[in-house]
Amino acid sequence: MKRRILHLLFILCFYLGLYSSCTPKFKGSIIEDNLTFAQSQLRIAFDEIDYARTNETPESRQEREKKGWGELTNPRNSEPDGSLHLVPSKDWTSGFFPGELWYLYEYTQNNFWKKKAQQHTDMLEREKMNGKTHDMGFKMYCSYGNGYRLTQDERYKEILLQSARTLATRFKPQAGIIRSWDHSQKKWDCPVIIDNMMNLELLFWATKESKDSTFYHIAVSHARTTMKNHFRPDNSCYHVIDYDTISGKVLKKNTHQGFSHESAWSRGQAWALYGYTMCYRETKFPEFLQQAKNVEEYLFKHPHMPADYIPYWDFDAPKIPNEPRDASAAAVIASALYELSLYDSENTKRYKERADKILENLTKSYRSTIGKNNGFLLLHSTGTKPSNVEVDVPIVYADYYFIEALLRKDRLEKTGKLF
Ligand code: GLY
Repeated sequence: MKRRILHLLFILCFYLGLYSSCTPKFKGSIIEDNLTFAQSQLRIAFDEIDYARTNETPESRQEREKKGWGELTNPRNSEPDGSLHLVPSKDWTSGFFPGELWYLYEYTQNNFWKKKAQQHTDMLEREKMNGKTHDMGFKMYCSYGNGYRLTQDERYKEILLQSARTLATRFKPQAGIIRSWDHSQKKWDCPVIIDNMMNLELLFWATKESKDSTFYHIAVSHARTTMKNHFRPDNSCYHVIDYDTISGKVLKKNTHQGFSHESAWSRGQAWALYGYTMCYRETKFPEFLQQAKNVEEYLFKHPHMPADYIPYWDFDAPKIPNEPRDASAAAVIASALYELSLYDSENTKRYKERADKILENLTKSYRSTIGKNNGFLLLHSTGTKPSNVEVDVPIVYADYYFIEALLRKDRLEKTGKLF
């Protein structure tokens, strides 16, 4: 009850402009409008996080303690009943919320956001030694990576280098890839998911900082092998490729979160677009740029790409147009397109216009009402539809890439550069 009253007061103050010290007033541009909105929503998120921590069920606490998962850290999603799902640091999504806080610090230069970003980043340190997952980049590069970029804090650098060393232990040289999951061992021998392309950014960073090219070679090998085995002739990609780690042979081409093994799961296509664009930035290998361009063409020529460019959760979902959307895929695509627009001069205008249109539509039709949805920014993301998990709900990585895309648009329009 107290929480609700505080929220109402906050919203009232917001509309009266009384939060002027930390919350600039709307000035009309889509960038300012959204980042003002984001500052208000994330302030609400802090209260919601406190509430969810204090009200964790005894069963959930017991399970966490029994499994040695440590404290609850950051938000992942809103559940269909409206409650906030907080995750321990081991969850693949734990780094996105601190990443958003770092982006707000970058935009506002306000120490309030820096302190909050530091607090929510520091909760994740133990992950630097967690070799049981490939999600190191998502967790550590979005949090510590942005933190290091903005503060040059040496402690962050050490944590990131250790994280890269831990991730590198999952490299399988015969197959030339980094193993993704350890679960489902009855189903797969060595599964690699397209999402893993996103974790390579941490390895490229680690080579530059440590001058140890091992990380670079692992990243390039993973990207090349993925290019060879994950893509179909129409340039869509599979979700899961299973490898034999002794012969390096492909054993299976499957899905886990998509509609079927042969379908095009939307977020997977988005990870591919972002991943190969980033790999081109880091290597300048033309084949990576070509791959990113191929994915872009697949996406935007697809008859099931909706007019507003916010994809359904899978391009082959059977009941389109009566299928849930995935705003998170749209946000990842927008952010990637701003970067791709820098590398392919013939298509710069097209990529930029498409990214702009995605941001406009997310703002117009997919944004939360202020004060609602546990402080999330975007509605209508889909996590894992086949298991009926996180269907048509707010999810943290949609918000992270939405803010990232807005900052990229801002920088691009002001300076013509991103990095
Ligand atoms: N990396 C997991 C997902 O995209 O859902």
